[in-house]
Amino acid sequence: MNFSITLALCFTLSGFLIGAHAKVPLDEQFRVVNEGGYTDYSPIEYNPDVRGFQPFTDNFRLCFYNTTPNAYTLALRIGNRAQESTLRWVWEANRGSPVKENATLTFGEDGNLVLAEADGRLVWQTNTANKGAVGIKILDNGNMVIYDSNGKFIWQSFDSPTDTLLVGQSLKLNGRNKLVSRRSPSVNTNGPYSLVMEAKRLVLYYTTNKTPKPIAYYEYEFFSKITQLQSMTFKAVEDSFDTTWGLSMEGVDSGSKFNVSTFLSSPKHNATLSFIRLESDGNVRVWSYSTLATATAWDVTYTAFTNDDTDGNDECRIPEHCLEFGLCKKGQCNACPSDKGLLGWDETCKTPSLASCDPKTFHYFKIEGADSFMTKYNGGSSTTEKACGDKCTRDCKCLGFFYNRKSSRCWLGYELKTLTRTGDSSLVAYVKAPNANKPVL
Ligand SMILES: *[C@@H]1O[C@H](CO)[C@@H](O)[C@H](O)[C@H]1NC(C)=O
Ligand SMILES: *[C@@H]1O[C@H](CO)[C@@H](O)[C@H](O)[C@H]1NC(C)=O
Ligand SMILES: *[C@@H]1O[C@H](CO)[C@@H](O)[C@H](O)[C@H]1NC(C)=O
Repeated sequence: MNFSITLALCFTLSGFLIGAHAKVPLDEQFRVVNEGGYTDYSPIEYNPDVRGFQPFTDNFRLCFYNTTPNAYTLALRIGNRAQESTLRWVWEANRGSPVKENATLTFGEDGNLVLAEADGRLVWQTNTANKGAVGIKILDNGNMVIYDSNGKFIWQSFDSPTDTLLVGQSLKLNGRNKLVSRRSPSVNTNGPYSLVMEAKRLVLYYTTNKTPKPIAYYEYEFFSKITQLQSMTFKAVEDSFDTTWGLSMEGVDSGSKFNVSTFLSSPKHNATLSFIRLESDGNVRVWSYSTLATATAWDVTYTAFTNDDTDGNDECRIPEHCLEFGLCKKGQCNACPSDKGLLGWDETCKTPSLASCDPKTFHYFKIEGADSFMTKYNGGSSTTEKACGDKCTRDCKCLGFFYNRKSSRCWLGYELKTLTRTGDSSLVAYVKAPNANKPVL
């Protein structure tokens, strides 16, 4: 009798504990302080200082890294220290909000993973306090998960990509639907490029504080009509007949029982450890890792813009390929347009700066056969060349315009950046320049 009461009480208590107050067992809890020596040495992507710690797997490890002193990113790296190939970064917690020395990463009893400065200021968290978490681990595919006593994921790093998708990771309609490039290899803030899953397309955008709305500069082809994309997953598939591997972006479309897919590459080895990334240069690359390789374990197996592309999607189509301004051909920035004609290109080449937007103070110079990254994937307006120019003249923010004489289409340029030199004289670019620069006759 006594025994059964105790037993009943025990069941009630444990039910209560598991239901509302499940706690992370002591041996699953951890607290890491960002201090001490560096653990991983070069080659490491972006040349940072790195402090690695638990949790980790053979191929993935959670680390603090910095590219500038005392500004650390909490990130997951891929690559095996036993091999001598470059370690690369595939997930990060705190882009744009770096932490300092002695910052802490805590996974405590309540199941919340918290990144805080030494003074306690909260920088980032998983918001999983008191949700039944019992542990955290990194899966073999690089997904870091916080799970409950049923093994259900309460939080997963796969839900918060920044610029990278690992195999099996998705963009989602009801979740994060885009990747954003980093500013540069050494500066980890948001850059101007994004890869966005929209209702009917997967598209690359260029956005700056001068562009009224994002400008599409590339669009993936799917060869089937799309109704409404629900998700888009980076997939690796092994062909069961000849054991070759294929990587693709595969979308779930609500209008079809079949998935839509765009093929990316066929790595020569097991493609499971691959990732796709929108990189700081505005290009999209797939990196594939071979666990069997000895020297160079990495292959770039897909690049969106290549200079031998037959559709003309070479690097000149990447908005800042020639930095501030430049005329580009087959990936080479080889001229700096000016009202004195084409000058040699270097990194100081800039769009002419205007003192005023009073039409009396500027004129246009014309570049025949020049195209812009914005013309291929943005419709432009249908108008005459003269009306196109008038529109740009009246618009203070317009730096110049592009006109297609065959299709009578007009595009106003709020960012000119990289222009492509084509042999097609029906494409013309007009650039505003201050009258003071006009040669005195
Ligand atoms: C970090 O903490 C340690 C131990 O408390 C201290 O000795 C060190 O000066 C701290 N470092 C910085 C940069 O504040
Ligand atoms: C479509 O993709 C989803 C998400 O990756 C997957 O769960 C599903 O099995 C796929 N459907 C088909 C028919 O391949
Ligand atoms: C491919 O590699 C993954 C990860 O290393 C491994 O789990 C899987 O078994 C491999 N597949 C084949 C068919 O070798």
